[in-house]
Amino acid sequence: MATMLSSELKSKIDTLKSRAPKIKLGRIDFDTPLLLAPMSAICTAPFRTLMMELGAGGTVSELISCHGINHGNERTRKMLELDPRERHTGLQLFGEDAESMASAARIAESFGPDFVDINMGCPVRKVVTKGGGSALLKETAKLGGFFRTIKSALTCPLTIKIRTGWDDESLNAEEVIRIAREEGVEFVAIHGRTRTQQYTGQANWDYIEGLNQAAVLPLIGNGDLHNYFQVRDRLQKTSCQALMLGRGPLRNPFLFCDSFLREGEASPFTPRDYLEVIEVLTELMAPHYQDRILVVQLRKHIMWFAAGFPGASQFRASLFHQTLLEPTMELTRQYFLSLENKSKDIDPSEAFMTSGHG
Ligand SMILES: Cc1cc2nc3c(=O)[nH]c(=O)nc-3n(C[C@H](O)[C@H](O)[C@H](O)COP(=O)(O)O)c2cc1C
Repeated sequence: MATMLSSELKSKIDTLKSRAPKIKLGRIDFDTPLLLAPMSAICTAPFRTLMMELGAGGTVSELISCHGINHGNERTRKMLELDPRERHTGLQLFGEDAESMASAARIAESFGPDFVDINMGCPVRKVVTKGGGSALLKETAKLGGFFRTIKSALTCPLTIKIRTGWDDESLNAEEVIRIAREEGVEFVAIHGRTRTQQYTGQANWDYIEGLNQAAVLPLIGNGDLHNYFQVRDRLQKTSCQALMLGRGPLRNPFLFCDSFLREGEASPFTPRDYLEVIEVLTELMAPHYQDRILVVQLRKHIMWFAAGFPGASQFRASLFHQTLLEPTMELTRQYFLSLENKSKDIDPSEAFMTSGHG
């Protein structure tokens, strides 16, 4: 794939990425054991393509409604499109009924993903009251048939993303994983929280690591890995085969590579590299949005990328008033270039994006 990055940035990425092992989970290959977690309204084709360029081992789309796909909803169908430069990508579907999920999965597969993933972690009321997302964790008696029907519609691998259980009294990931294994699911990604927890408290890594002792399927651990110290530490300790990073790369897009820095080695990425990332993202996103929407979408990424740099809150305040692309980019260039070689400082215990669909 022709890179969109400057040779200088590409060489920093390649050096760090070359330290990571390639992995295979079931039949699915990944470039490294650090994958981008699915995030609604974020993990679109342009953002996934950018993250692959920046060293993600693989990616998963935002959640996509099986009913929207089956009804031929144009906006939903667009969400299934991959960028031709993407590799190791999963399309994630949500829904509650096996037949609708199976027919949507068949359509999703025709868009060429490497795997189709089922969302079994979404805690949002609108989704769970219909029986989808994390509500599926409560219906273990139906799960075998649910997986079987969806799998029979696919030739590509089927994967699932779950939570630890519905609530503390019903931590049942082990049972869900056993059923998934019996039905030929390829791997399981697990966010270490219950549905009831939503995004409060901490991801329960002890529970995830406990599952691994008896793991019958490849497991991907996920939750609260916000900076490269945390990811590196977890990579050393974990018995999961891979980790998924969601919110972390929103503030540090180089997290996939920084996590392979050696003890005592400083991150090679500068504010100028952040600016390059923003310019590449703009190029990737531009064909997909009308100008005004492009600015709104882009602004949110720029604000996250600025987090932790000196003067970020002032910059965010001025950025917020921009509605046109050129002034937005000019302000962004001025800000990131003024930072010279300053580094960012993010407090991982500070609340950041405490709602989502998984
Ligand atoms: C804004 C947002 C949107 C999310 N959307 C999805 C989604 O569409 N599907 C899904 O399975 N998980 C979704 N999640 C959950 C993440 O994939 C991940 O499990 C969670 O954020 C914990 O990982 P992290 O601490 O690395 O962010 C979302 C999370 C956030 C913050």
